[in-house]
Amino acid sequence: MEVLGIDIGGSGIKGAPVDTTTGRMLAERLRIPTPRPAHPGAVAAVVGEIVEAFGWDGPVGCALPSVVHHGVVRTAANIDEAWIGVDGSALFSQRVGTPVNLLNDADAAGLAEMAFGAGRGRDGLVVMLTFGTGIGSGVFNEGVLVPNTEFGHIEFKGMELEHYAAGRLQEDEGMPYDEWGDRVDEVLDYLQGLFWPDLFILGGGISKAWDEWSDRLDVATEVVPAAMRNNAGIVGAAMAAVGAVRV
Ligand code: BGC
Repeated sequence: MEVLGIDIGGSGIKGAPVDTTTGRMLAERLRIPTPRPAHPGAVAAVVGEIVEAFGWDGPVGCALPSVVHHGVVRTAANIDEAWIGVDGSALFSQRVGTPVNLLNDADAAGLAEMAFGAGRGRDGLVVMLTFGTGIGSGVFNEGVLVPNTEFGHIEFKGMELEHYAAGRLQEDEGMPYDEWGDRVDEVLDYLQGLFWPDLFILGGGISKAWDEWSDRLDVATEVVPAAMRNNAGIVGAAMAAVGAVRV
């Protein structure tokens, strides 16, 4: 099916039409800077702009960096607090005049990786982690998403895990790759002891520089970089909108 996928991030809102059977984007993606402040109404206006730019009247799926429970945004760790309690599905659908499905960004990225990327054909328990401004998680058991896990907020060394090892520490704050890679290894070791996954998939901007830091990883669980890079959120958001998952 053809679905417009939109990935709402802290700095940019990106969208493209996606063929959900192949995971391919059908046009070059459009990126519009995230409005500041990123109030729900302002973000809905940008979503509307993207829908209009593609002349879209079919299904739309959106990923955003929050717990999304039955369409309602429940957390706002790295987005405007005004989102908490907002029925984002209803808000966006009203703005664009066609049904819009919402889900968590790391869940979306994981769906795309499991279907078309690094998790393709993998059974057992797979944990996808995205490293960016925060740390997102998408958990799959036998290929089925367990939605809204929030591993970035597990307490680790007296702080939230995402404060210890988010990608932004390296990308924006210049932490040396070795030091950051060692932190990621510690985090994976800890998560391994809690969940015993069969595979970790590591995504987010930092996965592009995999060769710079992956030699620091010696956790026993197999670890692979995400394959779809920064299109995974768009593709997964589109997939979820046509029933690949219910959240
Ligand atoms: C949020 C998650 C999100 C992750 C990555 C975290 O701070 O709580 O919902 O998936 O950042 O964007």
